[in-house]
Amino acid sequence: MTDNRPILVFDSGVGGLSVLAHIRAALPQAPIVYAADNAGYPYGTKSEAEIAARVPALLGRLAERYHPRLIVIACNTASTIALNHVRSALDLPVVGTVPAIKPAAQASKTRTIGVLGTEATIRQPYVDNLVAEFARDCRVLRHGSPELVDLAEAKLRGTPPPPKAVKSALEGLYGKAFGGQIDAVVLACTHFPLLADEIRAASPAKVTLVDSGEGIARRTAHLCTDQSWPDRPSGRAVFTRPDPEIAALQPALAEYGLTQIDIL
Ligand code: DGL
Repeated sequence: MTDNRPILVFDSGVGGLSVLAHIRAALPQAPIVYAADNAGYPYGTKSEAEIAARVPALLGRLAERYHPRLIVIACNTASTIALNHVRSALDLPVVGTVPAIKPAAQASKTRTIGVLGTEATIRQPYVDNLVAEFARDCRVLRHGSPELVDLAEAKLRGTPPPPKAVKSALEGLYGKAFGGQIDAVVLACTHFPLLADEIRAASPAKVTLVDSGEGIARRTAHLCTDQSWPDRPSGRAVFTRPDPEIAALQPALAEYGLTQIDIL
């Protein structure tokens, strides 16, 4: 029998599309519901208490409405703060987004890595633990950039990011003491792979950019082993409040196969 239950991919905004691209490649037939909490955007400037209360409640409502087979929290901020709350609140497999500190540490020759995320993500004990486990012998420089998050949103609405704005946002990372030695940067916000070309162009040539998208897709596919899928893929985007800017996003959403739009 065909299993029509979707995979629910969740973020505060369009960032999770960078993860969805990998999930689509790994599971081409999967029906997708992509949920963007535009009413709560941005997450990176919110408190831990706000995120920990908001995300499980919202995912509960989304699960009731769409009956997903699995949830992917395609957001570092929500995952590093609320993953355990979500797992205990919902009776569903939940895949989180973990900053790719391990592969960055493996790639670094200078033993100096950057972690570029939101302000909320970079201060999480979750990140301290990853550093202690996988990058103990590295100098780890962290920078939170709400500007890059906004630039990624604008890019998907059709406004190319001004190179100067990207450069000045990255100054907060490369301008730190020892910032010139960074040779690997963790894109610890799912919005940032959407700006990978711009970030690369504004970074020293030796810098390798690392993100978690492929690993999340691998984990998702593994959890769906032996499950059945409808014959054709389908995709809908759901927003948490109506907004005239959603129309500007439609062409980008369609590129990810999200052709229907709902408001929760
Ligand atoms: N895309 C999100 C992340 O990975 C959050 C961006 C935001 O809402 O500040 O952290």
